[in-house]
Amino acid sequence: MFQKDLLKNKTIIVTGGGSGLGKSMGLQFSELGANLVITSRRQDVLDQTADEISSATGGKVLPISTDVREPEQVKAMVSETVKKFGEINGCLNNAAGNFISPTENLSENAFKTVLDIVLQGTFNCTLAVGKEMIKNNGGVFLNIVTTYAWTGSGYVVPSAAAKAGVLSMTRSLAVEWAKYGIRTNAIAPGPFPTKGAWDRLAPPGFGIEKKMKNRIPLKRFGEHIELANLASFLMSDGSGYINGEVVTIDGGEWLQGAGQFNELGKIPKLVWAGLDKMRKKKEKP
Ligand code: HXC
Ligand code: NAP
Repeated sequence: MFQKDLLKNKTIIVTGGGSGLGKSMGLQFSELGANLVITSRRQDVLDQTADEISSATGGKVLPISTDVREPEQVKAMVSETVKKFGEINGCLNNAAGNFISPTENLSENAFKTVLDIVLQGTFNCTLAVGKEMIKNNGGVFLNIVTTYAWTGSGYVVPSAAAKAGVLSMTRSLAVEWAKYGIRTNAIAPGPFPTKGAWDRLAPPGFGIEKKMKNRIPLKRFGEHIELANLASFLMSDGSGYINGEVVTIDGGEWLQGAGQFNELGKIPKLVWAGLDKMRKKKEKP
């Protein structure tokens, strides 16, 4: 789909890059020529992912353990990146924390924990990387949100509130930092199977996975390569005039819930034929 050198000579940081979707997007950035920096809390997971990606692509991959909630750790990670690669051209804010719970059962700390990772963590990385990008006259931020950033969703209230904040920050900085040559966009994925998300959000035995799939007009989950393709495009110079946008990649899932008559898709053809007959009968003088 892309020219092999689409991201050549670009240095891209991927937070939460050791596992799941961050790993898949990082792999494709590396395949397309980027120098990759992957961060998360677990150094052993990062080391293994870095080995896997660099052996697959031959690219340079730097694994740096960083808790995005800790500004000093984030600043140290940014300094190490600059020391190794000279400058930073892209930052994929992908690290997240989430779980399902009735809101009345949450502690204040449970809410704060998710907000700290998703919203404060995204800000910490954006601030530290942004200062470098301002010095270099440009760069690209890509923030991973989800469709309930604008619809909201019960049972994931901390995550919904935090992702809404990230979306608002995306649109705000798209305007404020455009003068520095910095583009800021977001991707809103629907369900893409990963261990991290499925363990926490789709515990087996309740039929949640089947229900999730049935809600999607395309009747399937997303494939990691589909998300990676979108992320690579938005990271590349090919999307140079896209700024402040959130691109949804969910097989039509959120609109299925939004359209008042979409449930009529469940009506069998025969019933439609019957309704039509009745209508025509009524219309006869
Ligand atoms: C209620 C919970 C809880 C749960 C933790 N807490 N899990 N409350 N239900 N299931 C509470 C704890 O009791 C504690 O509050 C507070 O949250 C902090 O918990 P810790 O375990 O100390 O936090 P920490 O070790 O920092 O771990 C953070 C985490 C964990 C978010 C709780 O799940 C994590 O590390 N997640 C990272 C990866 C992840 O979540 N991936 C999924 C992303 S998927 P008290 O009051 O007891 O101290 C995603 C998909 C979106 O975002 C859309 C899908 C379609
Ligand atoms: P995942 O594998 O659990 O990814 C979350 C990553 O964040 C992990 O690598 C985790 O690594 C890292 N992380 C968590 N807390 C951190 C912290 N404090 N500091 C640094 N890193 C931290 O799950 P995923 O499904 O790939 O999710 C990736 C992104 O996609 C998230 O933003 C999620 O909200 C979004 N998303 C996913 C789906 C889906 O269906 N999968 C749908 C919509 C949106 P450590 O635990 O090692 O720190």
